Amino acid sequence: MRERIDYVEREISEIVISDMQGAETFRIKYLGSKGVLKSLYQEFKAVPNEEKKEIGQRLNDLKQRLENVLASVQSNEPEKHSKYLVDFTRPGRSTPLGSIHPLTIVRNEIVSIFSTIGFSVSEGPEIEDDWHNFSALNFPPDHPARDMQDTFFVDSSIDGLSLRTHTSSVQVRVMETQKPPIRTISPGRVYRNEAISARAHCFFHQIEGLYIDKNVSFADLKQTLDYFAKSLFGESAKIRLRPSYFPFTEPSAEVDVSCSLCQGDGCNVCKHTGWLEILGCGMVDPNVLDACGIDSKEYNGFAFGMGVERIAQLKYRVNDLRLYSENDLRFLTQFHF
Ligand code: PHE
Repeated sequence: MRERIDYVEREISEIVISDMQGAETFRIKYLGSKGVLKSLYQEFKAVPNEEKKEIGQRLNDLKQRLENVLASVQSNEPEKHSKYLVDFTRPGRSTPLGSIHPLTIVRNEIVSIFSTIGFSVSEGPEIEDDWHNFSALNFPPDHPARDMQDTFFVDSSIDGLSLRTHTSSVQVRVMETQKPPIRTISPGRVYRNEAISARAHCFFHQIEGLYIDKNVSFADLKQTLDYFAKSLFGESAKIRLRPSYFPFTEPSAEVDVSCSLCQGDGCNVCKHTGWLEILGCGMVDPNVLDACGIDSKEYNGFAFGMGVERIAQLKYRVNDLRLYSENDLRFLTQFHF
């Protein structure tokens, strides 16, 4: 009996199983109902009592070893140094590739356009105090934008803490801590208390820009925005400025870009005007510079701000703002570089 067990042990240590069919043949031969192990257990019945303990132990070990060999082949994870099946031709497990969110694609593109002309990126907190979101930006105490209807207050008893309504708050932080010349853009999420619809959402994304130096002119602002529009929408893009009002800039303007769909002839997207509004801008009000510790007699500058959703809408013709935050894969997987 001992010799038979020795023999089987030697035999299995030399076996090489190269495919699943080999594994099945192995199973039938050694572990099947008419297999080698079964006949050894039959033989075991005749073993004298005093040897039963030792031989029984060896038989159990052999059974365990046979089962291990089979399990490692079947799970395709052979033990180290084993000669058993590894199928090197089997295709690897693929990891599905994600896609980049359209707002991230557009944000990155805008950041890279401005970084080529020397703008750095600055970020700040989404929960802001009244000073950074409003007061330093020359908002009068009774300005409607401070109203509960527009602003989400977190705790108005602590410094008027609210969710920032624009990333101009980041620019205040930059002006308070850095010395001019300053060239920075501030991308980030902003919040306004609006009813959610295809055209409005209670949060969206902005990129605001700030340039402070000596002798900055309105022409510098116009040229910067012209360069931006051409880089983003193509060489044939034109811009036009319309007078507007913001508390923190004087003079202020709203900027339209020529409709790239109809080349200015008029279509549904531009509502037959040939122009699409994309951003607000102006020369930084001296009150803002002084509030942030920059001498307005020595320095001046310009600022601008745009909505990333709006630009993405124009680039990708997405006409429902809600799609950007619904995490619907059918929508998200359509965007590639
Ligand atoms: N902060 C303005 C907004 O949120 C945009 C803006 C920025 C306008 C800078 C002018 C200058 O609408």
